Amino acid sequence: MEYESVRKIYHNYSNFYDFLFKQVFFPRQKYAIGEMNIKPGDKVLDVGIGTGLSLLCYPSDCHVTGIDLSASMLEKAREKKDKHKLEHVSLIEMDACDLKFDDDEFDHVIATFVLTVVPDPVKALSEMKRVCKKGNSLVIVNHFMSDNKLVARTEKFTDPFLRKLGWRMNVKLPELLKEANLEADSCIRMKKIDLWSIVFATNTK
Ligand SMILES: C[S@@+](CC[C@H](N)C(=O)[O-])C[C@H]1O[C@@H](n2cnc3c(N)ncnc32)[C@H](O)[C@@H]1O
Repeated sequence: MEYESVRKIYHNYSNFYDFLFKQVFFPRQKYAIGEMNIKPGDKVLDVGIGTGLSLLCYPSDCHVTGIDLSASMLEKAREKKDKHKLEHVSLIEMDACDLKFDDDEFDHVIATFVLTVVPDPVKALSEMKRVCKKGNSLVIVNHFMSDNKLVARTEKFTDPFLRKLGWRMNVKLPELLKEANLEADSCIRMKKIDLWSIVFATNTK
């Protein structure tokens, strides 16, 4: 996924994104964030926060920083921040593959439906590890390529078309974790047959 095409695609989505995706994305965000054990005062980074669908899932006594490449998606997140008076939320335009934060700056880092959109998922995950404190939680919610050969073949076939819609289908979770040197504590699917996985990992650095 190239930066300019991602910006263009998500600029075009920004007005319809919540209408198109909220129903399937929000329950998974809510579950993942609910399991993060966020304590009062904790600093959370939400990578590729998009229109800020996740914003209402965070407790108001933590500090949430949301970053995204798309100014148009962030504008929608800002509207939610203003509407719901979310003083504990900061929103910044930034590349997930080049986070402008110090090492160990956050207590929790989450990326929902993002790692198959960024140009380099391993770099983005490595950046998430870098800015998250050692021993703390990293959470990924995403579609990953199936280990069922027949399904994987279909995913490979649809990949070029779906890239044009804004995401790729060919990211394999085991390879991603191995290359980013990360081990999952658990990998959950909310339904028996579900396109999306919720991955919890401890940042061993
Ligand atoms: C499918 S949306 C997911 C948005 C949000 N996390 C959610 O769950 O609704 C993918 C988001 O990733 C953002 N994105 C893509 N590439 C990025 C990058 N390199 N850095 C930061 N954000 C990026 C897009 O702008 C878009 O908002």
